[in-house]
Amino acid sequence: MKIKKIIQNISVPGSISIREALVFLDKEPLGFLLAVDNQNRLEGVITEGDIRRLVISGKKLSTSVKDFIKRDPVTAYQQTDIEKIQSKLSEKIKFIPILDKESRVIDILFFDKNFHIPIAGPFLNEEELKNVTDCVLSGWISSAGKYIPEFEKQFSNYCDTKYGVATSNGTTALHLALATLGVKKGDEVIVPNFTFIATANAVTYTGAKPILAEIEKETWNMDPGRIERLITKRTKAIIPVHVFGHPCDMDPIMNIAKKHKLFVIEDAAQAHGAEYKKKRVGSIGDLGCFSFYGNKIITTGEGGMIVTKNKSLADKAKILRDHGMDLDHKYRHSCLGYNYRMTNLQAAIGVAQMKKVSKIVQRKREIAALYNNGLKNIKGITLPIEKEWAKNVYWLYSILIKEKELGISRDQFIEKLRLQKIDSRPFFVSLNKQPIYSQKGFFPVSEEISKSGLSLPSSINITNEEINKILNSVKGAIGKA
Ligand SMILES: Cc1ncc(COP(=O)(O)O)c(C=O)c1O
Repeated sequence: MKIKKIIQNISVPGSISIREALVFLDKEPLGFLLAVDNQNRLEGVITEGDIRRLVISGKKLSTSVKDFIKRDPVTAYQQTDIEKIQSKLSEKIKFIPILDKESRVIDILFFDKNFHIPIAGPFLNEEELKNVTDCVLSGWISSAGKYIPEFEKQFSNYCDTKYGVATSNGTTALHLALATLGVKKGDEVIVPNFTFIATANAVTYTGAKPILAEIEKETWNMDPGRIERLITKRTKAIIPVHVFGHPCDMDPIMNIAKKHKLFVIEDAAQAHGAEYKKKRVGSIGDLGCFSFYGNKIITTGEGGMIVTKNKSLADKAKILRDHGMDLDHKYRHSCLGYNYRMTNLQAAIGVAQMKKVSKIVQRKREIAALYNNGLKNIKGITLPIEKEWAKNVYWLYSILIKEKELGISRDQFIEKLRLQKIDSRPFFVSLNKQPIYSQKGFFPVSEEISKSGLSLPSSINITNEEINKILNSVKGAIGKA
């Protein structure tokens, strides 16, 4: 119902009886009435609780409520900043009438205890449900079934690669990729200092050592100019990570790899659909690895995939994914492998997600454009970049907070948003600062970015109104509202 109609239904003369008040409260059960004069100007509010207490205290139903009206309720004027009004709402003050200049109620803001804007979230509907139901009813719920090859085909086509090897998650995809390339104890693999820990962990699982490369100031990705100095006799591979959906500068990375005969595994866990010079990420290195965790661009709950243009690498990955079992000989195992298989249930969700992937990427870019537009003139906030050669998919819309200019630290900023029920997330701690990977070295760029960065909500389910609310809260948090 329109708010105008609701206001009409609960606006009553202050002289009504307890019985009449009960009738109004019954008709529009909001739990309160607005007492207005004959010009519709607000005189006060009458709450259901007040009426209940009058009845319990023995007042007759014919008694007028006029002496029991709350004449100083919390109200706000139309011009008041919405953030200020919202900050007054609580379990105690559950509604605030908004008044025009003549003190007539034109709107009411309500406290919503469940209101909360999450950082990310999956986009699921009946298409996923239908496919999962099909798995359950057919009994194909493990890692055999029609959805696995179908998902591998559709996702690898999407990445402009020929082959896809679906895995149980993105971390197993990375480990499987390294194992497929024969990376082992004693080897070294170059990874960016700024990434989610899984990139380095996958290297460590093989017995090899992750070697940390400094990142670029603008893209927050591995800096190609800082790779060559890290190469030794032991170096086997480079893992560029397309952080937050912006592709790495792949040409110089591929040239270095070619020159030193190194493999390249793209960690594209955060960048489904991103493009480098019109090439989809995941299709440029020897192998590309993706995650389909619930907060990713598309999801299968948990899940991952290796994509490649190289058939023999894809076959090797398939063998290692399934306990090293020969592809043409059941239960003959020629090498040590793993159980990193994806289930048909996961792939069933993945196939449904493939129908949405383009729409999701488009919406992610729209969300980023709305944020960019709202934040562009704020000195002290660095916006995410899109290089001229890149298509950024803005997996998580992320910004840097310059404490010196804004007078507020990143963590204080996060806390202010939290009080407004807005989730945000600090950037990863750079690997050299992680107890298990602490390494000597000079990493000023990644340390600074890691300290000052945060991601704002960019769930595919977020509305434009919610983005506006977040923009107001961001401005409020830094005193620019
Ligand atoms: C850059 C990066 N690599 C790897 C992973 C691991 O993926 P998963 O969580 O599916 O194991 C993630 C997950 O967020 C990631 O962000």
